[in-house]
Amino acid sequence: MKRIHILSFIAFLTFIIVSFMACKTYPKMEITQREFGSVDGKKVELFTLVNGRGMKATITNYGAIVQSLWMEDKNGNVEDIVLGFDSLKDYLNDSPYFGAIVGRYGNRIGQARFTLDGKEYHVTPNDGPNHLHGGLKGFDKVVWDARAYIDSSGPCLELHYKSSDGEEGYPGNLDVYVTYCLSTDNELRIDYRATTDQPTIINLTHHGYFNLSGNAQRDILDHKLQIMADNYTPVDSLLIPTGDIKPVEGTPFDFRNPKSIGQHIRKVFNKKPGYDNNFVLRTGVDSFRKVAVLSDTVSGRTMEVWTDQPGLQFYSGNFLDGSLKGKYKVVYQQYWGLCLETQHFPDSPNKPWFPSVVLRPGEEYKTRTVYKFFIQ
Ligand code: BGC
Repeated sequence: MKRIHILSFIAFLTFIIVSFMACKTYPKMEITQREFGSVDGKKVELFTLVNGRGMKATITNYGAIVQSLWMEDKNGNVEDIVLGFDSLKDYLNDSPYFGAIVGRYGNRIGQARFTLDGKEYHVTPNDGPNHLHGGLKGFDKVVWDARAYIDSSGPCLELHYKSSDGEEGYPGNLDVYVTYCLSTDNELRIDYRATTDQPTIINLTHHGYFNLSGNAQRDILDHKLQIMADNYTPVDSLLIPTGDIKPVEGTPFDFRNPKSIGQHIRKVFNKKPGYDNNFVLRTGVDSFRKVAVLSDTVSGRTMEVWTDQPGLQFYSGNFLDGSLKGKYKVVYQQYWGLCLETQHFPDSPNKPWFPSVVLRPGEEYKTRTVYKFFIQ
């Protein structure tokens, strides 16, 4: 009899807890905007996207930068999970591409030159002799036109930029659209589209620095990472791919099963100790597939990365050195955030056996990447 009482009490308690959780209310879905400053005589705005399911993002049309991204931890604390700055001034001053869209060609082009249809093009060298993330004034440093709207998936921000022929050395007028949506499924979805009026090359990516601990409390060495890649592209001392495609098996680049980022990090050197490498993603039945999973056991936060792209640059924040103070007055030390940049392989314009990055008039560059968030 007593046992029945205890069991019904437990059932009642469970009912109360479940009902309480089901009743949990989140701030309502909306988009607001405020002035963030101005650049090149153009107004820069900061948009806040709230998805009604507990997530919020602030995004500026300067550099298409995700300035903050908020989600709950397993105890219900809502915290920011990306690195960045409070003010536009700090982004203008010195930012290692925090949260930005990089292009026209994300990552490196060796010797800052390439040949397309028999013609040699020179792009701006801004990383020693090489070209990095679109040059001196890449897409991370321009003001985009913005259009905010809410559709059936949630709040979205469409950003548009016209990159003119010859900008940073690239051929062709390029019309680029990047749309961020913070879906009601707790996804940050990024849709990229572009067209050109002359043959050109393109490789756009999102350069968010994630730190799932919340408000960047700790470094990311204890985060666990899985990358669905059997191969990677080895690089030379200046991080230009040698052109080989090598198996990850038996190397520190083996993330086929989840492992902590810190486990083998000291065995990897890319100008600095740490990961800064392109992984050759396994192809799936569907071209849009899950390619990586990042998790932090302490906060319970987990992020999946989905994309249709062939590569993923895993950069473990090796060049952060304590010289930048970000949001919440946190000093960003080495390994304080990590990037998972979906992309074409670095230096593809000079490696014809890598998947092609050429875009021609009449074609549309169209790709999608989704960062999906859970509590575990
Ligand atoms: C590159 C790093 C570079 C960093 C800039 C990454 O995408 O792979 O080599 O230093 O961006 O912050």
